Formats: sequence, structure tokens, C-alpha cells
Amino acid sequence: MDVLLAGATGFTGSRVLDLLLENGHRVACLVRPWSDAEAIEKLDVAVVRGSLEEAPVLADALRGRDALVSAGPLTPATANGIVGAAGASCVARIVVIGTTSIFTNLNAASKTRKTEAESTIRDSGLDYTLLRPTMIYGTHEDRNMCRLVRYLSTHTFMPVFGSGKHLQQPVHVEDLARAVVLALENPVSIGKAYDVAGGEAVTYSEVIDTTARLLGRRVVRVHLPLGLSLALVRLYRKVAPNPQIHAEQVLRLNEDKAFSTEEIERDLGYDAVGFEEGMRREIEEIRSWDLARRSRT
Ligand SMILES: NC(=O)c1ccc[n+]([C@@H]2O[C@H](COP(=O)([O-])OP(=O)(O)OC[C@H]3O[C@@H](n4cnc5c(N)ncnc54)[C@H](OP(=O)(O)O)[C@@H]3O)[C@@H](O)[C@H]2O)c1
Repeated sequence: MDVLLAGATGFTGSRVLDLLLENGHRVACLVRPWSDAEAIEKLDVAVVRGSLEEAPVLADALRGRDALVSAGPLTPATANGIVGAAGASCVARIVVIGTTSIFTNLNAASKTRKTEAESTIRDSGLDYTLLRPTMIYGTHEDRNMCRLVRYLSTHTFMPVFGSGKHLQQPVHVEDLARAVVLALENPVSIGKAYDVAGGEAVTYSEVIDTTARLLGRRVVRVHLPLGLSLALVRLYRKVAPNPQIHAEQVLRLNEDKAFSTEEIERDLGYDAVGFEEGMRREIEEIRSWDLARRSRT
């Protein structure tokens, strides 16, 4: 297929790009004007400058192609851009990445915006597939497990906000990228929204224990009651110059985030690595990346 890919400079999009090329698709990448596209320009792909919000630019880039794949953010503005451009260019096939965070029980502002964006896609009349990943992990580029790996590599005491018993089901970036390409290639996925989760649900305490074991580290979990955790995070946000934790993240850690992948398995043959194997791969990748970086400097 002849595909326009948005988000190819990102964590997931770069894997999607590799897989699309491996599978013999022709790819053009939509890259924002200020974005560094050096790595993409070395590949056999065209680069078009523009953003998902800009329907006219996107329509020009899309015209004559078979599909739009977006690994960029799904917001009301990007959803409107995508739908407008698809209509103007008469390209109906779109595969977009959303998020399972729309299922949170928290009254988060981001939930309303993301749900609205999803509805724009689902009500568009286009041949859409919507993939909703859970937390994505898998390399030094992720903003989730990589931070945990780095922290546990040098610290013995690990604060746990709340009981640590709530479930999460992170998805390895390679599995998500494969799900995107499977969806694009299989028309069974048209008009469907799939949750895309990892091979197993694990508690937050298990996440910490498994990661520490794989790192060969002895780590002591220090559990802080939820109320105290929230008070500490709020205080930290007031005093820290560049705070890295939000109260919402603490609350999200204290709700279950396990999702069934039955539908995508049945329709597309999706399968995903279990958490321990995924983390083993991530730690190996981080170590090689660190080694390569040290040898360059
Ligand atoms: N990371 C997670 O744990 C997680 C969990 C659930 C869902 N998601 C969703 O999954 C998708 C992929 O996540 P990720 O972590 O791989 O994201 P990422 O690394 O932040 O990459 C996002 C990509 O989208 C591009 N982009 C951003 N805004 C754009 C716009 N307006 N128009 C065109 N391109 C734009 C970025 O390009 P630039 O180079 O220009 O910045 C980048 O290439 C995102 O939609 C994210 O919301 C992520």
C-alpha cells in the first residue's frame, strides 16, 4: 500500500515505519516543520512537512495514497484535521492510535478531550481503525518503564504511592507497532476500535519486583498510604522547580488498568509478550544503548 505515516519521529511511529517498510509498503512521512527528521531522511521514504491539525496540508500529502496511519496524538484538533483531510483527498482508510486512558474513572480533563477526539473519528464515516494502547514501553525512549529501570539501578528504596496492588498491563512497543500494521493490512479491522495491551496484567508491586530482579538489584518497597502520597506530591509540586510527578499519575496508579485483547487476537492474530520478557528486552536494549553512547563520548 501507499501510506502516509504521521508520528514517524516518535517512539511508536519509528517502529511502525520500520515494519511498514519491512512489509513492502511505500511510505511518506508527515513530519512537523520544526521536527528533526534526519533519521527518516536516511530511509527510502518521502518526507512531507506539516501537522495533523492542518487539514489542507494533510489533504495534499494524502491525495493519491491508499491510507493514513497516525502514531501522533489523537486530540480534538488532530482528529478534525484527519477527518477533514481524508474527506478532501478522498482517502477513506485511516488507522489511528488513541489510548485506553479514556476508560479512567477519574474526572480528568484529558479524558473528555480524548473521548471527543475518538468520537470524531468513529462518527466520520471513514474506513477507520482505532487502536487504544495501554502504557507503552520497550526501549530507552519510553517515558515510563525506562525511568523505573534507571531509578532502580541506583536506589535501594522505592516509594510506592498506595497499596501497589492495582493492575496494569503495559504493551511492548514492538507489539503495538505490529498491531498497527496488522490492522492496516486486514480490512476486518475497518470500523473497529481495539484495546491493545501487553501479554499479562501485573500489579505495580510486581512491576517493581520483576524489574529489580531482572536488574539483579535488591530493592525495598516503601508503601505510602494514598492520602499521604497525594499530600506529598502536591507539596513537592509546589516546591520543586521542575516537578516530574502529578497527583493524577498517583491516582491513576491506584486504579486497575487491565484490558482484554481477545477481540484483536481473534480478528488480527495479535499476540503480545508477557511483562517479564518485555522488561528483559527493555533492560537489554537500555544497556546496549548506554554502552554505545559511552563509547561515542
Ligand atoms: N507513550 C504511552 O505510554 C502512550 C500510552 C497510550 C497512548 N499513547 C498514544 O500513542 C501514540 C504514540 O505514543 P508515543 O509515546 O510513541 O508518542 P511520541 O513518542 O510522543 O511521538 C509522537 C509523534 O507524533 C508526532 N506529532 C506530535 N504532534 C503532532 C501533530 N500535531 N501532527 C503531526 N505529528 C505530530 C511527533 O512528532 P514531533 O517529532 O514533531 O514531535 C512524534 O513523531 C500517541 O498518540 C500517544 O498519545 C501513548
